[in-house]
Amino acid sequence: MNFGTNHGDGTLVASASASLHAFEMTSTDKKFAVVTGANRGIGLALTKALRQRGYDVLAACRKPTPALSALGVDVAEGVEVTEPDGVERLESAVASRDIDLLINNAGILRWGDRLEALDVAGIREQFEVNALGPLVVTAKLRTRLRQGAKVALITSRMGSIEDNGSGGFYGYRMSKAALNMAGKSLAHDLEPQGVAVIILHPGMVKTEMVGDHGQVEPEQAAEGLLARIDELTLATTGGFWHANGERLPW
Ligand SMILES: NC(=O)c1ccc[n+]([C@@H]2O[C@H](COP(=O)([O-])OP(=O)(O)OC[C@H]3O[C@@H](n4cnc5c(N)ncnc54)[C@H](OP(=O)(O)O)[C@@H]3O)[C@@H](O)[C@H]2O)c1
Repeated sequence: MNFGTNHGDGTLVASASASLHAFEMTSTDKKFAVVTGANRGIGLALTKALRQRGYDVLAACRKPTPALSALGVDVAEGVEVTEPDGVERLESAVASRDIDLLINNAGILRWGDRLEALDVAGIREQFEVNALGPLVVTAKLRTRLRQGAKVALITSRMGSIEDNGSGGFYGYRMSKAALNMAGKSLAHDLEPQGVAVIILHPGMVKTEMVGDHGQVEPEQAAEGLLARIDELTLATTGGFWHANGERLPW
């Protein structure tokens, strides 16, 4: 650390004090990120990547996995996003910290949703987790989002109405379309607070959700998602993007 040139005791002390202050600022001003569904898949990869970037990460999950525990980040357990208790547990874990980045990643895909045999309970469940969960979490943590913070919603291009070229997947498609709409309203409502919102499709990612049949690894998806979040400003708030940088149609 540079303690300055000695131009007399007073100058040296003042210079040393300024340097120490700058050091304290950098060590205490670490950015703080919250990620839901952080115990596996894309959420785990995002948590790992954010930690590597020097963030303090609060990894929210229902139950930690060994892979998450091994990262050595702060973990909030029991965060079931469809339950008021779960969301309150997350709020308590955030405590008085100001959030720089909130990533609503937790989500589910229920297969076998066909018109001939609608799984109404499954459709409702996907709405609860995919659309309501992120909205409730964001509303609950709203006052902890610092000015300049960013909120990311991990959606799917399957929630794009224009991009729907194959039908089916009623619960997943409808719940992600609803999430996209929530994201647009959040962008408007959080703008006066100086908070920008981005709605992100991660790509087809090799995770349990798709039976590991994706096109990209979770780590690659996480890098793309974070690159889009880096680019996000209040001027671009409310956009729907692919992790690869492509703008997606609603
Ligand atoms: N993989 C893809 O190709 C793909 C494509 C488009 C969009 N996405 C989206 O990307 C996000 C992450 O998916 P992924 O591929 O990483 O899937 P994943 O491996 O199945 O992980 C899903 C995560 O969400 C959590 N979760 C599920 N229901 C929850 C609930 N009710 N409360 C709290 N947490 C819950 C899971 O926790 P548990 O371990 O406790 O179940 C897990 O951490 C999802 O929003 C998904 O829709 C994925």
